[in-house]
Amino acid sequence: MPLLSLLALAPFDSKAIDARVESLLKRMTLEEKIGQLVQFSDGSATGPEGAQVDQKALVAKGGMGSVLNLTGAKEVNALQRVAVEGSRLKIPLIFGLDVIHGHRTVFPVPLGLSATWDEGLIERTARVAAVEASADGVRWTFSPMVDVARDARWGRIMEGAGEDPWLGGRVAAAYVRGYQTRDLSDPTAIVACAKHYVAYGAAEAGRDYNTVDLSDRVLRDVYLPPFKAAVDAGVGTLMSAFNTVGGVPASANRYTLTDVLRGEWGFRGFVVSDWNSIGELIPHGIALDAEEAAEKGLNAGVDMDMAANAYASKLVGLVKKGRVKQGTVDEATRRVLRVKFALGLFERPYADESRAAREMLSPGHLAVAREAAERSFVLLKNEGAVLPLTPGRRVALIGPLADSADDMLGEWAVRGRKEDVTSLRSAMAERLKGGLLYAKGTEIQTESEAGFAEAVAAAQKADVAVMALGESRFMSGEAFSRTRLDLPGNQRKLLEAVVATGKPVVLVLFNGRPLALPWESAHVSAMLEAWFPGVQAGPALVHTLYGDVAPSGRLTTSFPRAVGQEPLYYNRLNTGRPARTDAIAERFTSGYLDELITPLFPFGHGLTYTRFTYSAPKILTKSIRAADLAKGKTIEVEAVVANVGASAGIETAQLYVAQRGTSVARPIRELKGYERLRIAPGESRRVRFVLRGADLAFTGLDMKRKVEPGELTVWVAPNAEAGAPAKLRILP
Ligand code: BGC
Repeated sequence: MPLLSLLALAPFDSKAIDARVESLLKRMTLEEKIGQLVQFSDGSATGPEGAQVDQKALVAKGGMGSVLNLTGAKEVNALQRVAVEGSRLKIPLIFGLDVIHGHRTVFPVPLGLSATWDEGLIERTARVAAVEASADGVRWTFSPMVDVARDARWGRIMEGAGEDPWLGGRVAAAYVRGYQTRDLSDPTAIVACAKHYVAYGAAEAGRDYNTVDLSDRVLRDVYLPPFKAAVDAGVGTLMSAFNTVGGVPASANRYTLTDVLRGEWGFRGFVVSDWNSIGELIPHGIALDAEEAAEKGLNAGVDMDMAANAYASKLVGLVKKGRVKQGTVDEATRRVLRVKFALGLFERPYADESRAAREMLSPGHLAVAREAAERSFVLLKNEGAVLPLTPGRRVALIGPLADSADDMLGEWAVRGRKEDVTSLRSAMAERLKGGLLYAKGTEIQTESEAGFAEAVAAAQKADVAVMALGESRFMSGEAFSRTRLDLPGNQRKLLEAVVATGKPVVLVLFNGRPLALPWESAHVSAMLEAWFPGVQAGPALVHTLYGDVAPSGRLTTSFPRAVGQEPLYYNRLNTGRPARTDAIAERFTSGYLDELITPLFPFGHGLTYTRFTYSAPKILTKSIRAADLAKGKTIEVEAVVANVGASAGIETAQLYVAQRGTSVARPIRELKGYERLRIAPGESRRVRFVLRGADLAFTGLDMKRKVEPGELTVWVAPNAEAGAPAKLRILP
């Protein structure tokens, strides 16, 4: 284990903290212990309305250990005072909030942040979020969401790092480092929460909260790894999910919550339920009432009940009846207290009320927001080098998202404010000093074409049309699943009208999920995927469109040609009758009658303002045995990447592997490394990757995770579909 992870784990493995926990536990009544397992919202609901309780009274008698959705140092301190000065044992509250992609300084949505392929930058965004959130009295964030998502219909694909478990693990660890720092007791550190444990992203048909049923192998090789990475990085808490996994609700799933998480991984923090997910064991059908729900949730390994009022109202009785053991309550209480001690809440329960005024939206924070936005943009297409825009050419900016400050925040920007956002229109107008033609054209979702004529007229007067189209901020995120992946409303019709003018069109897309845009991509000159970029949307876009910075983002999720391809992901199995990737309707192959099986834009794809070429990869290791890999020997792979264009640029070289001849079928490709290379025009860079046993291990026929012998293929490539292969035999 790397030293950094050991340091990060220390707070939950500390003997000193354990001793303090034990001594406190001895003094607690059963009611006070259960109180530590209870969380209520301050009133604003991030789920269906729950029970209304008298929070102050509950806190005063030690009946509530945590509050969510209360912010503001003064407000938080007022309630904390009731706990610390008014309750018998003076145990501080822990205040949690969904600080998902920034606090006041809102960054791109997580799917956009993952497209930076820049762990250091993601860590910095999390650090800024923690500094601001803690200034608002929040010491616990319900982030990162590390659910692997393979279905663009699922609205919450926006909240995670896309479809890849390996990259998802790297990103998860970066968030944890940024939020928690090396010292959780630092007043600007906040404890992270890896969610939603587990397999929430595999919801059938992309419908939120829907059933999940998958093999233990897929669970272990695809859905668990980002959680394991978060645990290895020292994450303090996890949140149990809403969905079932193989018929067992994730919030009552002893196998995942206890056997795997505690038993196999040694996790010592605590698990909070999702909003009312303990209460939802009733509609799931595995509990007849709140009492049975509380029993099943706690016994499975959910330590804290968010908003359901099941633990608060039922656990005392359950212990008395012997249906929940006293020891189970003790252990859950220990886990919660451990995190509170690690946060230093017993020493410093109050937030510094003077900090918010100077921290929120500070120039340094805004600079990180702009950098993150710039790096998240993915240039999907750029025909005839229409981008970067040439200064002096007349621009018509058209579309419902060009001036919508609010939408730039994306979903889950709970403390974001639209007044803090610079829109594309205002940044562009400033750049062009009054020379900008602007027309809204249409709304995000309407049938009215009243604004079309004005938009077409603007395009006709211009040399190039920049169209800002896409989804509203509330079309992706929780409970925002879609059955269509097109541009909502009549935006496509507006685009057709502008394309018909014959002017080159640059399409800037705002969306929290992959969209299926084959017509659009065939008819516009350039497409820039901007996601929801956050408070610095406008400046970041203008810098990029004018080439002050070149786009360097890469897709972390496949963009389909048609919604019917979903779930669509690059790391699929081959099948026994693989379809050709360049032909449709080939009889007796695993394809479609009416569409290719490949995405429109693959995982890893992203262009920039220069071009790169790749040499074939070279495997430097001549021969290797599976057992040697297990013992620490490595495989080295090398390739040369050349900048053959006219400007400097960043290229993200990606290492993919596949293995055949194994005990179970393995994906046709899997990402195992990447390197962001800054290369000057005319120059080339040699890039070297090291593959370790852990990178090549998978869950074999015997359900053990290990390296197997077989034929290994590697690619060093600009995306999941490109590149030349090199092969090596892994010997028995
Ligand atoms: C969401 C979680 C969130 C929680 C608290 C739930 O509805 O699923 O992701 O952290 O609410 O707001």
